[in-house]
Amino acid sequence: MSILNLSLISAFLIITYLIVSIFIPMLSGGAGYTPTPRKLIDEALELVNLRKDDIFYDLGCGTGDVLIRALKRCDNVRGVEIDPLRWLISRLRAREALVTLGDLFRYDISDADVIFIFQYRGKINDRFADKILDETDPGTRVISYIHPINNMNLINKQGDLYVYET
Ligand SMILES: C[S@@+](CC[C@H](N)C(=O)[O-])C[C@H]1O[C@@H](n2cnc3c(N)ncnc32)[C@H](O)[C@@H]1O
Repeated sequence: MSILNLSLISAFLIITYLIVSIFIPMLSGGAGYTPTPRKLIDEALELVNLRKDDIFYDLGCGTGDVLIRALKRCDNVRGVEIDPLRWLISRLRAREALVTLGDLFRYDISDADVIFIFQYRGKINDRFADKILDETDPGTRVISYIHPINNMNLINKQGDLYVYET
């Protein structure tokens, strides 16, 4: 096979993957990939008062930006990501975090102290509220970027950051 053919096949596979990866999160109703700006991640972790011994989750952790910032403050950092390539990048970037490939709705979060989420307003965040209220202990802090979560107890809001407590 010529180098030209190999390059064309590689380009085809990469483009196909990039297109498919847009749709993978949609199968579960989740958001596609947009990273939270670093400055806002730090603001969010400050606002939610993330402590060393907390158990922290980023549900839909993308390429791991939130996990990396959280590891600077906390020893127990966990992420879940449905897209295989983003999951792999997260694993490689946030080596001290526990990063799982899968659907956040099938993941046990009952030991969470702090949860970060950047998904969509409405259906997914409503489903998410039910999961949190069913599974977590009272006093769990939840922070949602951009999209508010209905049916949860809002305790603080700063710009696009919404903080809730169960
Ligand atoms: C808007 S991005 C946020 C990425 C990261 N949390 C951040 O704030 O920088 C949403 C991420 O959630 C992932 N996602 C969407 N639905 C999901 C699901 N059901 N389970 C796990 N991850 C999901 C997407 O693949 C995407 O990487």
